[in-house]
Amino acid sequence: MRHYDAPTARPSERRPSSPPWWSDAVIYEVYIRSFADSDGDGTGDLQGIIDHLDHIQALGVDAVWITPFFPSPGHDHGYDVSDFRGIDPTFGDTGTFQRLVDELHQRGIRLLVDVVPNHTSHEHPWFRAALAEGREGSHYRDYYLWADPAPDGGPPNNWLANFGGSAWEWEPDSQQYYHHSYLPEQPDLNWRNPRVLDEWVEILSHWLHLGADAFRIDVAHNLLKHPDLPDNPVLEAAALHDVPAGRVRSARSLARIYDMDQDDVVDLYAHLRARLPRTRSGEEPFLLGETVLDNPDRVERYIQAGRLQAAMWFGTDRVPFDAAEVARVLRTPGSGTPGRFGWFLSNHDRARPASRLGSADRALAIAAAVLAMPGPYLLYQGEELGMIDLEVDPDTARDPIARRAGELDVSRDRARSPIPWTDGPDRGWGSTEPWLAHGSLPENGSATTQHGDPDSQLNRWRALLNTWARLRDVLPPGCAVEHYDDLLILSRGNLTVRVNLGTGPLPLEPPDGTEVLWRSKPHPWSPVLRPGETVWFHSSR
Ligand code: GLC
Repeated sequence: MRHYDAPTARPSERRPSSPPWWSDAVIYEVYIRSFADSDGDGTGDLQGIIDHLDHIQALGVDAVWITPFFPSPGHDHGYDVSDFRGIDPTFGDTGTFQRLVDELHQRGIRLLVDVVPNHTSHEHPWFRAALAEGREGSHYRDYYLWADPAPDGGPPNNWLANFGGSAWEWEPDSQQYYHHSYLPEQPDLNWRNPRVLDEWVEILSHWLHLGADAFRIDVAHNLLKHPDLPDNPVLEAAALHDVPAGRVRSARSLARIYDMDQDDVVDLYAHLRARLPRTRSGEEPFLLGETVLDNPDRVERYIQAGRLQAAMWFGTDRVPFDAAEVARVLRTPGSGTPGRFGWFLSNHDRARPASRLGSADRALAIAAAVLAMPGPYLLYQGEELGMIDLEVDPDTARDPIARRAGELDVSRDRARSPIPWTDGPDRGWGSTEPWLAHGSLPENGSATTQHGDPDSQLNRWRALLNTWARLRDVLPPGCAVEHYDDLLILSRGNLTVRVNLGTGPLPLEPPDGTEVLWRSKPHPWSPVLRPGETVWFHSSR
């Protein structure tokens, strides 16, 4: 087997003049339920992560983002939290969390906790207290968004939930509606109430105290709504009326201008950041926002001075295998903006890139260009194995969006099948029936098989990240992206990346004075840039 050196500059060892650790970091997303199961109940857990840290470390990542492990009734698989300071016994306890923190830190890997400040579970004590206070209540009642019915008794406006149907749920005792951007079991918090910010400063401080280094902020663009609750403009009038039986209206039929991404939402992050304590190792905590927006200029507002350090730009998660389209979404923020975009091809909500783009080779080819962009790269578990979409069986479908909307073809279950650690029918999980079905094996086999194959997707990812770790600290914060027909060229300092997004070979043509550092396709060495291949060139000048 080919030997890969450990990255030379571990984050903690970087020179004081280096850019902050997160600037070009690789952050590995662990979708906890589907990563690794230590106790045989079919659901992944914190101990499962500890048991597989060698896999994570061998990739050469800088940090791990773990999806929510807090107590939750599980209507949205952990994104409906009933105790923001607790750990759901399905996943472990405080002791397991502490061991995980220690093991990660000993390996020079930081931890991002995935926090969900937009909403709580309907079982959260705050929401229960709000119900108990009733409509005249003013303490916990004001933690949430309540409104009287419209004159016809219906919801106060036309807002629709991200998971379909009205975004308002009737509460009969108080004769008012409450707002939920997602499921009715996920009531939205009222971030115009300063006590909500105070609560969140305390919650994040709690996790920093326990050893977290950073946070992924769930739906960071969603926290504020227009205070007057105006109707959103209707985009597809037909979609509002023509809803098949058993389905709910899709929020895609409205222009979402009043119920998310309000101009003043970014101020919240300035307040939050200014009030957070340092991490246990004395750093400023890194805040990464999930900003699900179509326009990168809107995303840029979140990473201006004093706000979030990085915000996810949803440009590359749907991009087709087309040079012009890829070039169009590879954008950098303006030079006066200190934060960076967070880049990714996939996550637990999106289709697997190997399926979407047609092959694991193509996915790696695009990832190797996106990785070189200024900003952290978020590597979703299984992407390093070339995992493909799960074929969703209507009888065992789990995703609440797909179930409500009757849209199994876009079900998030596709990207959530358990990691195949071994090739056997139980995939190393000890169970052929984990919480969500095992998918087909990736082209190069399970993690164990790929570990032993020097040309596997896994070992090509390891070589790429190893190369990246040695290179990135000297790269400038800017880059240029061009395309000529099917050829995409990205230039950043002394790194040049070329991707062939066509179906025929292109000349390799190393730029003057450069050497080939890495190429995405396995051997044999080829004198041409093959279709679906990416090459990294490096100049020592
Ligand atoms: C984010 C999460 C998603 C969740 C939603 C509501 O988009 O990634 O999984 O369902 O927020 O919390």
